[in-house]
Amino acid sequence: MNARNTLGINEKGHLSIGGADCVDLAAEFGTPLYVFDEAYIRTMMSVYRDTIAREYGDGLVLYASKAFSCEAIYAIAREEGIGADVVSGGELYTAMQAGFPAEKICMHGNNKLPRELRYALDCGIGLIVVDSDSEAEDLERECAARGRRQDVLLRINPGVEAHTHAYVQTATPDSKFGFSVASGAAKSMTEHILRCPHLRLRGFHCHIGSQIFEKSSFAVAAEKCLAFMAQLRDTLHFEADTLNLGGGFGIWYTDKDEKFTPEKYADYLRTLIRAVKEGCARFGLGLPRLMIEPGRSIVGEAGITLYTVGAIKEIAGIRKYLAVDGGMFDNPRFCLYRSEYTAVLANRAAEPSRELVSVAGKCCESGDLIGVDMALPKAERGDLLAVLSTGAYNYSMASNYNRNFIPPAVLVKDGKAEYIVRPQTPEDLVRNDVLPARLRR
Ligand code: LLP
Repeated sequence: MNARNTLGINEKGHLSIGGADCVDLAAEFGTPLYVFDEAYIRTMMSVYRDTIAREYGDGLVLYASKAFSCEAIYAIAREEGIGADVVSGGELYTAMQAGFPAEKICMHGNNKLPRELRYALDCGIGLIVVDSDSEAEDLERECAARGRRQDVLLRINPGVEAHTHAYVQTATPDSKFGFSVASGAAKSMTEHILRCPHLRLRGFHCHIGSQIFEKSSFAVAAEKCLAFMAQLRDTLHFEADTLNLGGGFGIWYTDKDEKFTPEKYADYLRTLIRAVKEGCARFGLGLPRLMIEPGRSIVGEAGITLYTVGAIKEIAGIRKYLAVDGGMFDNPRFCLYRSEYTAVLANRAAEPSRELVSVAGKCCESGDLIGVDMALPKAERGDLLAVLSTGAYNYSMASNYNRNFIPPAVLVKDGKAEYIVRPQTPEDLVRNDVLPARLRR
């Protein structure tokens, strides 16, 4: 059903994930519910880890935890022996709570706050990816005060236009991320960091975007970074020893997308590895330590969201809406990017699709949709709707909009599920509210 064998239809005609019956999961945990298949996550982490180890040598896979961040996922990454990328003090805190080794964490962000930088240093973080002049200054000052030297990368913008949604392209000339190679900004910033006695510049980072299927975009980015590294060697006599090429591998959402097996993802990585090796040979560079930062491709297809169908409204000649008990507060991706998903009636998964419907959320706004024109059997109130490939950038982008509860998440292993994110309670919603005395009654 999806790209790898996470999902199936069992003998009862119910959708199953990781061997667990979705109807049973909904009965036990309620809906809306995020469900993750642990085996799938581990497979993807290990495929990347082993491909780099076998076919490149010195490298590290960093799980891009912005895709899905909670203590359990960092614990799984730790057990799989990979690193993690974090983009805020909050993600870093969550990783530390899960006992993640700080030296395997790389911190990103175009505007890291001074307190986030201080916290990262307190934790003993492995790498900080510098992305602004002021950040380099803050970091140099903090490290000097602590009498230590911090390993850093510099985020560069190699100017590669990847074919994906404009909001998730990051290396076009107009980007808030990185220092442009073409304009010379990357080179002057390199010189600046090399003059900072408490920063040890290990190399460079680039990330060209997300949900990218074209292998060549990654190869071109790698090539441009290596050309830049060669230029620095020749002009500044600086030899970088680390190259972090970011994340961005695409996943299957609908049948418009390619379905990749883990082996296919290994192929993507091989293309990248080949580009790095060839580029190094061409420019006479030693092989740098290679890092990649996949997020979506590790957790995206590992996760689904279960909803209960509620109100159904057919507007004659226009469209039919199925409203579910979730919405843009648990999955804002349709609203933000018009992202398409595949939906399945989990309690009648073997039935053929009969109609195209729009799946609406329960928020008080018209744009609150999970998808339009989704093919489904004729659904009724009380049916269980599964939206597939929601493991990445759903829970992590969820909100309490309209004071709805962010759904809990369960992790399935060998057919058994347990919470990795507990359900919110009404008390959680008002936990930080303050009622000044003059407003009390
Ligand atoms: N590294 C860096 C520096 C990144 O900015 C990102 C994603 C990644 C790695 C991981 O990329 P992935 O392998 O997950 O494609 N909210 C958007 C996606 C934003 C991606 C931001 N950066 C969405 O829902 O599609």
